[in-house]
Amino acid sequence: MEYSFSDRVLELKPSAIREIFKYAADPEVISLSAGNPAPEAFPSKAIGEIAAQIFAQDPIGALQYSVTEGYPALRRHLLAYMQKTHQIGRAFDEILITSGAQQVMDLFTKSVCNEGDVILCEAPSFIGSLNTFRSYKARLCGIPMEEDGISLSGLEDALKREKHVKFLYTIPNFQNPSGITMSLEKRHGVYELAKKYGIMILEDNPYGDLRFAGEHIPAIKSFDEEGIVMYAGTFSKVISPGMRVGYAIGPKPILQKMIVCKQGEDVHTNILAQMICDEFMTKYDYDAHLAGLREIYRKKYALAEEALQKNLAPDVTWTPVEGGLFIWCTLPDTIDMPTFCKEAVLRKVCVVPGNAFLTNENDPCHAFRINFSTPTDEQLVRGIELLGTLLREKLGGKA
Ligand SMILES: Cc1ncc(COP(=O)(O)O)c(C=O)c1O
Repeated sequence: MEYSFSDRVLELKPSAIREIFKYAADPEVISLSAGNPAPEAFPSKAIGEIAAQIFAQDPIGALQYSVTEGYPALRRHLLAYMQKTHQIGRAFDEILITSGAQQVMDLFTKSVCNEGDVILCEAPSFIGSLNTFRSYKARLCGIPMEEDGISLSGLEDALKREKHVKFLYTIPNFQNPSGITMSLEKRHGVYELAKKYGIMILEDNPYGDLRFAGEHIPAIKSFDEEGIVMYAGTFSKVISPGMRVGYAIGPKPILQKMIVCKQGEDVHTNILAQMICDEFMTKYDYDAHLAGLREIYRKKYALAEEALQKNLAPDVTWTPVEGGLFIWCTLPDTIDMPTFCKEAVLRKVCVVPGNAFLTNENDPCHAFRINFSTPTDEQLVRGIELLGTLLREKLGGKA
């Protein structure tokens, strides 16, 4: 059978990360390539208790079909929490529970983008979202990143130059993959530019609660008085990615369309998982849980930084991060990055080549991404040592 595919998916490729996972599945390979929460970060005991309680008290509620908008109690509690703690959600906004934040990207793009519309993205940016945008045949335009977030002049140039720009996609906190956090000034600048040029902002914030250093910076959505920001949140990095519970907070007319689209995709997000998230947020000490996560990642990051200093500095450089799960490492210009990453796998350590995160994968890139949350402490240190040995060989020194 010769299969024929839609134009929409014809050019889609499996993400480089998924490909790399094949190598990472080898038990001998140390994977610094994933983006998973640390095994010790899961509140497994509490979730077990909550699930048992739900089945004792409301088994049919947990097993029956539910409403597309999301489990009503979770919607109510989550919106109140986001309003109180993050000033997110005005009278013109609504909340929709989704199957992970990934589905927010999908539903929002489906609702607002036509084929050929332009989506402005930070370069580099999260592969999962870029592939979603590509699947709707949107044209991606990468805007360079600076130490304090997206380049505002690059953004304004693109807004002046490009026709049919629909929205800017941004990950302001501990960005995946660069680890960069956008300054408050830039957040205001981005919002003002979006307002001036009449585009929307898709603000993706899966890592915001994982700040282990520095001061909290308000979300762009928190100063949205015009209804131009769609906010994507998720429980993936703070409770469990396997439960697939995320959420969108944004202007009601757009959410209404996203709800119709969701009906055609998965009817509703897994109701048992939604009930568990709701109980965990409301009946357990959620803030103490978040504080515990920050402590886990603060220690892991300190370990990774120390190993990087010892094994890769000063030839490899990186932007120090204040939260999240990733470090973006830049090799000297003399070393070919894709070859370095391939050879690293042969030495049994796996990192993600940076060009996988670009809007155009063929653009030059000397960086790779390291994840410090998933490996054990021993694997993290050993993995970085192996990278250091390879680096010294490449630079012609002694291993
Ligand atoms: C920046 C970013 N956005 C969205 C997601 C998707 O998260 P979810 O598991 O909620 O779909 C991820 C997952 O790694 C991510 O890094």
